[in-house]
Amino acid sequence: MKRQDFTAGAAIKRILVAGGAGFLGSHLCEELVAQGHHVTCLDNLETGSLKNVEALTGSNRFTLLKQDVCDPLPDHLRVQEIYNLACAASPPHYQADPIHTMMTCVVGTNNLLGLAERCEARFLQASTSEVYGDPEQHPQTEAYWGHVNPTGPRACYDEGKRAAETLCFDYLRMGRADVRVVRIFNTYGPRMRPDDGRIISNLVCQALAGEPLTIYGTGEQTRSFCYASDLIRGLLQMMAAKDNPGAPVNFGNPGEFTINELAHLVLKITGSPSKISLHPLPVDDPQRRRPDIGRAHQLFGWKPEIALVEGLGPTIEWFARELRKGARATIDGARRAHEAARLQPEPVAVQRH
Ligand SMILES: NC(=O)c1ccc[n+]([C@@H]2O[C@H](COP(=O)([O-])OP(=O)(O)OC[C@H]3O[C@@H](n4cnc5c(N)ncnc54)[C@H](O)[C@@H]3O)[C@@H](O)[C@H]2O)c1
Repeated sequence: MKRQDFTAGAAIKRILVAGGAGFLGSHLCEELVAQGHHVTCLDNLETGSLKNVEALTGSNRFTLLKQDVCDPLPDHLRVQEIYNLACAASPPHYQADPIHTMMTCVVGTNNLLGLAERCEARFLQASTSEVYGDPEQHPQTEAYWGHVNPTGPRACYDEGKRAAETLCFDYLRMGRADVRVVRIFNTYGPRMRPDDGRIISNLVCQALAGEPLTIYGTGEQTRSFCYASDLIRGLLQMMAAKDNPGAPVNFGNPGEFTINELAHLVLKITGSPSKISLHPLPVDDPQRRRPDIGRAHQLFGWKPEIALVEGLGPTIEWFARELRKGARATIDGARRAHEAARLQPEPVAVQRH
């Protein structure tokens, strides 16, 4: 990934990355270690993997702490910055154990905020565009409060992340920690899991396997796609900012594509003969998603640099390598989990006698 120096002249720090063995967390750990910092990666390896941080384990500036963020944190931890990325991010994974997902967001974030308070560490929370739910406002600005179903199958994540934001801003208002919140929109790149059920991994893996490309609904719903290196640059800038923005900041790529456009781009780049196969829309699937990144641009001059067509190249190469290594079985498993989650009924009312 293209390396940029945001901390020229800055002190070497001790940094905790919760969820550091995941897709985004591992890129962040890599960047921080490369900048000379001492990084502790805390991860329960639920959706992350040792492979993602394998290259770092030889560095004496990198420590892996395998633990669940919901459990009490070790007393000896002393850090100056905390990035909280710990939480499964794809629907089949966060719906596999929805109560644990909610607890990760609430109890886990509270544990890390407590650590930030004890260490007087700066804290960055990886929130999500899912806090906007199925939005009625386009593009979504940070001032929009969202349109979320609090009882549906996605609520464990959407409402969990909203509750985590509440905790973050209460810690900030009470002067207990210097907390910053970023709202991340769809981000993709190498190290995504082929079985994570997200739109890019699904379409790319199906195209590479020559299978029909699954599109839910008409395919005219839109998404925006940010390349991982652009996002990581944003997280570093947000953490490094001298002044706390005191409000959440959207990070994502405002380029808006229909799922049909994405599918045709994937077919073109892979040269796959796959056909398109239409399926019913999942429960609470948002129709449009596009960030307003005015605040990130105004505060940090941040904007994404990698266009979708450019970022898909290395991403497709990554998936092709993973498939060659035999990830097929896990993809099939994920597809079944995704289908089960999609068909999950609304809760049944309790009968009173
Ligand atoms: N990738 C995206 O498009 C996107 C979009 C919005 C928000 N985010 C947020 O960014 C963060 C990272 O996302 P990602 O795409 O890298 O997902 P990921 O699933 O690859 O990474 C999450 C990491 O957290 C770890 N984890 C999960 N629950 C944990 C727990 N209870 N204790 C300790 N570790 C735990 C997982 O093992 C994994 O390594 C998440 O918080 C996610 O909500 C990501």
